[in-house]
Order: sequence, then structure tokens, then C-alpha cells
Amino acid sequence: MLYHINNQQTTVMLNFDPSSVPHRDLHQILLSGVAPRPIAFVTSKDRNGNINLAPFSFFNAYASKPPVVAIGPAISAATGTTKDTYLNIMETQECTISAVTYPMVQRMNIASAVYPHGTDEYDKAGFTKAPAMMVGVPYVSESPFVLECRLIRNIELFREDGGNGNIMLLRVLNIMVNENAMTEDKIDPRKLDLVARLGYKWYSHINADSLFELGQPRGICAGFDALPESIKRSTILSANDIHILAATETLPQPLSDEEAQLLFAALNIDFTNTGSVHTVLHTLLAGNRTDEAWHIIRAVNA
Ligand SMILES: Cc1cc2nc3c(=O)[nH]c(=O)nc-3n(C[C@H](O)[C@H](O)[C@H](O)COP(=O)(O)O)c2cc1C
Repeated sequence: MLYHINNQQTTVMLNFDPSSVPHRDLHQILLSGVAPRPIAFVTSKDRNGNINLAPFSFFNAYASKPPVVAIGPAISAATGTTKDTYLNIMETQECTISAVTYPMVQRMNIASAVYPHGTDEYDKAGFTKAPAMMVGVPYVSESPFVLECRLIRNIELFREDGGNGNIMLLRVLNIMVNENAMTEDKIDPRKLDLVARLGYKWYSHINADSLFELGQPRGICAGFDALPESIKRSTILSANDIHILAATETLPQPLSDEEAQLLFAALNIDFTNTGSVHTVLHTLLAGNRTDEAWHIIRAVNA
């Protein structure tokens, strides 16, 4: 772990012991930090064929071969009642999960209201059913990303201690994606326009302004060992700047003297002023010009 000299501040960590914090508060505290969470808009049906639609943000993917996701319909802390979604999936073993987009979010919220068992929230919230391919429940046609799922099993969580949680493990039988959400052969998050749930009443809108790309290191991060102390302790470079350098897997080949002089002249670097060198490095790193940043660091360190 690298450190940043600017971070040497006193940090006060508040402590919340799950065994003593009231459940209502604990729920929001937990969900504020376990965030943002994707929202599964779950369509299920009971044994009489009544369709149900409800959102669940206790939701994620846990395996891709075969694909397995899970949702967590709790026994309601407010009313003690069991969610229709849970009852239906236990009865008929199937569901579809439709991703929730920004244009769907207000209607999704309506579908989360506690309607009597047997109510079709598609009608209440104004969504359109589309037939799934592998399961006998429809999906939300307004959604660009859909999973067709079969129940593997449900895990009841700590009922003996008054626990109200469930983990419904679901095997994904089929995935459908709206072709308009693609750029060439890849799903494009800028086109999916998803929303995510955080704590309290907060949501997040995932769009071009909130997205960035970051490739996971495939090998050893060679930059880490090559970083001089003056960079690690910079008061101008941010922690992210420093760790972009640290994460460099292959350092660029050194430039010839002539190439280096040309680069430094083009960047107008004043090597006698550490602050201005670090400012140039910050600008280069913000512009994804990591190789040029390394050439400068080498020159400073030479
Ligand atoms: C965005 C959002 C996420 C939700 N996530 C969950 C969840 O993960 N687990 C849960 O039990 N209830 C969750 N709820 C509440 C349920 O959607 C709500 O209780 C709903 O009435 C359940 O419907 P059902 O009884 O038809 O299954 C969430 C509500 C919203 C608006």
C-alpha cells in the first residue's frame, strides 16, 4: 500500500455494532456503504398464474460459468409479511430479472408499493410484458437487459436469531440484451442508462458523465518499485495519480537523449522547480499520457 503525505490527517471512525444498533438504522447504515447496488426488477408468478413485479437491490452476480445470481427478498421488518416475489419463486421456481434504466425509475418505484397478493404491478406501474424464451414468466419489455432464471435453492438467514433475510440463488438460463445497447460487439454502459440503489433514498444514474474505464492489472505492477520517494510524497499529485504510475505493468523504453530533449521542450518543463514538474505530471496522467510521465520521472531521478 502506498501512502500520500496529504492524507496524514486524524480520521475518526464511528463504530456500529450490529447487535446493538436498531434494525431500522442498521439497514440504512449497511446499505449506504454497500453501494451502489444494481436493481433486479423481478417478474414472478404464483401457481395460479398471477404475475408479480417488484424491485430488489439485494442483488448481484456470483458466478459466470454457469451464470448464477442471487436476490434477497426479506421478510418485511415493518409488517412481518413475506414478499410475494419470494412466495412465487418458491412455488413456481422461475423468474425473470429486468435491469432498471433511468427512464423506468419512477415506475419501478410505484411497483415497489405493497400491493395485495395477486396484484399485477405491470398494470399499476405501466410496464409492458414481453414473453421470455426459457421460463414461463414475462419480462419488462422497457428494459434493455434481461435474465431468465430458475431457482437453485433458497437460504434462510438466521431465523433462529430473529433474522429476516433470504438469499435466493438463481441459475441464469438465458440473457437478452437490446441491440440498441451495443457498440459494435460489446454492451455499452453509456447506452444501457442503468440506475443503482444506495442508502436511504439515494439512487445513482450511470451515464457517460459518471463512467470511466480502468483495466485490471494482468501482471506485476512494475511501476510500484520504480517510483521515487519524491513522487510518493508529492503534495501536488493525487493518490490516484501516484497509483496510476504504480500500476504501470511495463515501463516504457528509455528515450534517446535527443528524443528526451524534444519531449521536455514540447512540455515546457522547468526541472529546477519540483512543483511545476509535478503539475505537468498531473496533467499528463489526467490525459492518459503515462509513458510521457515516466520519461519525466526518469529524467528527474537521473
Ligand atoms: C429500489 C428498491 C430496491 C429494493 N430492494 C429490496 C430488497 O433487496 N429486498 C427486499 O426485501 N425488498 C426490497 N425492496 C422493497 C420491495 O420492492 C417491496 O417490499 C415490494 O413491495 C415487494 O413486492 P412483492 O411483495 O410483490 O414481492 C426494494 C424496493 C426498492 C424501491
